[in-house]
This record gives sequence, C-alpha cells and structure tokens, in this order.
Amino acid sequence: MSSIFRKITKLFTYDVGIDLGTANTLVNIKDQGIVLREPSVVAVKGEKVLAVGDEAKRMLGRTPGSVVAIRPLKDGVIADSEITEQMLRYFIKKSTSRYYFCKPRVLVAIPSGITEVERRAVRDAASRAGAREVHLIEEPMAAAIGVGLPVQEAAGNMVVDIGGGTTEVALISLSGIVYSRSVRCAGDELDDSIISYMRRTYNLMIGERTAEDIKIRIGSAYPLEKELTMDVKGRDLVAGLPKTVTIRSEEVREALSEQLNTIVDAVRTTLERCPPELAADLVDRGIVLAGGGALLRGLDKLLHEQTGLPIHIAEDPLSAVAEGTGKTLQELDFFVNATYSG
Ligand SMILES: Nc1ncnc2c1ncn2[C@@H]1O[C@H](COP(=O)(O)OP(=O)(O)OP(=O)(O)O)[C@@H](O)[C@H]1O
Ligand SMILES: [Mg+2]
Repeated sequence: MSSIFRKITKLFTYDVGIDLGTANTLVNIKDQGIVLREPSVVAVKGEKVLAVGDEAKRMLGRTPGSVVAIRPLKDGVIADSEITEQMLRYFIKKSTSRYYFCKPRVLVAIPSGITEVERRAVRDAASRAGAREVHLIEEPMAAAIGVGLPVQEAAGNMVVDIGGGTTEVALISLSGIVYSRSVRCAGDELDDSIISYMRRTYNLMIGERTAEDIKIRIGSAYPLEKELTMDVKGRDLVAGLPKTVTIRSEEVREALSEQLNTIVDAVRTTLERCPPELAADLVDRGIVLAGGGALLRGLDKLLHEQTGLPIHIAEDPLSAVAEGTGKTLQELDFFVNATYSG
C-alpha cells in the first residue's frame, strides 16, 4: 500500500538540481543525472527573448544592432534578474517537459561568498521560473560532493572551483565548510587579460569568444613541454581593418600571470587559515580542482609548486557542481534540515 502511495507521489513531485553558473548552466534531475548543459546566455531584442543557451552564445558579439546577447550572471551572481528568470524558466522547461503537470523542488548551487540580497535574488528567480520549493547549496560543497570527496569524515578536504566568474576555495570537514574564500577572478578575468594583452601589444581588438578560444587552445599556467602558437584574427586599432597575428603560448601565459597569482594567493590564504589538524590531512589528501578553469594547462603544476601539496584535477571538472547537486537531491529531505542548507 505504502509503496503505491510512494509511486503516486513520485509522479507528482520531482527534484531538480541546478548549477547556475556565470558561464554555463547545468540541470540535473534526480534519478536521471545531468540532462542539460548550456551556456548562461540569452539573446534579446527589445523586451523579447529570441534565443537562450547554445543558440544565444553563437550570437555573442555577432548580433545586429537591435539584438543583444546578454549574460545575466556576472561574478557568480545575478546581474539581471528578469533575464535570469527567463533563462531558468526555459532551461527547467526544456529539461523537464514530460513532467508538465507539476512543479519541481529545486536545489540551486550558489557561490559561498554571496550576500543575503544575492541569495534572495536566486531564490526569487527560481520560484518565479516555476520552482515549488527552492533550496540553496554552496558551490564548493556541491563540487566536493560531486567529485566524491568524503565530506562527512572528520578530516580536511580542500576544493578549488575555478568557474567563469568566481574562484571558490573551500576547506571542508564533517559536512561543513570550515573556511572558504571566494574571489571574483576566474575564467572571464583570464579572457579579459588576453583581450588587453592583444590590444596593448599588437593594437589588435579581439572579442570575448576569440579570447576564450585562445585561452583554451594555447593558454597555460606553467611552462609547456612543447610551446604552442596560434593565428589570431581581430581588428587593427590603427588601420581599423581586419588583421591576423600569430601569438605564442609563452605570451599568453605572461598575459594570464597576474590573474593566476590572485587565484594562487586565494589558495595560499586558505591554507594559512587552516587549523593544524586539518592542514595535516591535506598533506596526504591534497587539493581537488574543479570548474572549467581546472582545465587550464599546467594549473595543477603551478599550484603544486606554490603549495607543495598534491593536486588532483576532477575527472569532469565542468560537471562537478551539478553532479554534487544530484547526489544531494538523493538526500534532500535530510539536507533541508542540515546546518548548511541556505
Ligand atoms: N580547456 C579549458 N582551459 C581553460 N579554461 C577553460 C577550459 N574549458 C573551459 N574553460 C573555462 O571555464 C569557464 C567555465 O567554467 P564553469 O562552467 O565551471 O563556470 P561556471 O560554473 O559557469 O561559473 P561560476 O561558477 O564562476 O559561476 C569558462 O571561463 C571557460 O572559458
Ligand atoms: Mg561554477
């Protein structure tokens, strides 16, 4: 009897985990896994939304005057609430079409450093986008759970999540965040420093997408065994015409170095604040890197050199937070009562 009841309730309720990121949004449905991953971009014309996600990203920087491609999150938090809500509504709908007759419970991952007002904005956007209940989880906690760290143990675990907008460094023990630090310096800032470098050095104006492309194709944090080159197209600021220049990976590393130092400093500060017993645990366990930024070549080597600790890159850094929301949904009822619920 009770099992029939459970089956029926299951038909009418479902749980969705969302990694609402500055660069990418991922949706994880309980018992199904990650069903959607798309860029957090919306193309609008006046008041009207023309495209969301992949389709909108293709338009970034290439839109005719009246169409604007907006990234509604900046530095990990909501910069445009109206557009965030529309984007969330679209993503929830797209990933859950077969459940149209009920509203989901939603668990959203948020940066650890955000203010009460910023939390409220996430809750409001999610409820207006169709959530029946909204719960929040801090991104580094979700990332740690996602990569399978033993967060419940009484031992220190450290996660560094380098996303598009923020780098979050967290020390976790006994299912709680002992200390965390969030710096608004991550993938976007790395792209920006490539844009300024190209302007300064070559008088070449390049767009955000080109900058990201350079970072992904030849960017690095540590000298490479074999250095790389790449042809970059942009607009010559003096002649005003399209131009191509060839750049080397050494130059890109130089362009990224200041931002990378900020990230390294955030890790070192967290280590300095670490209680001695937990610091001792890290000597063996090391640090886990997650978020898209973890894919930057040689970042593990740089962090190893600067901290002396073993560095592990998550198996799928871009999915860690979303995986973590999925695993947390399995225990949502417990989680709702736990101390770290938002
Ligand atoms: N191979 C790569 N090398 C370097 N950077 C990469 C690579 N692949 C993706 N990235 C960068 O990772 C970032 C996106 O990562 P991710 O999806 O984890 O961010 P996010 O969760 O949307 O952002 P946030 O958590 O800050 O809100 C982008 O800046 C992207 O350029
Ligand atoms: Mg993220």
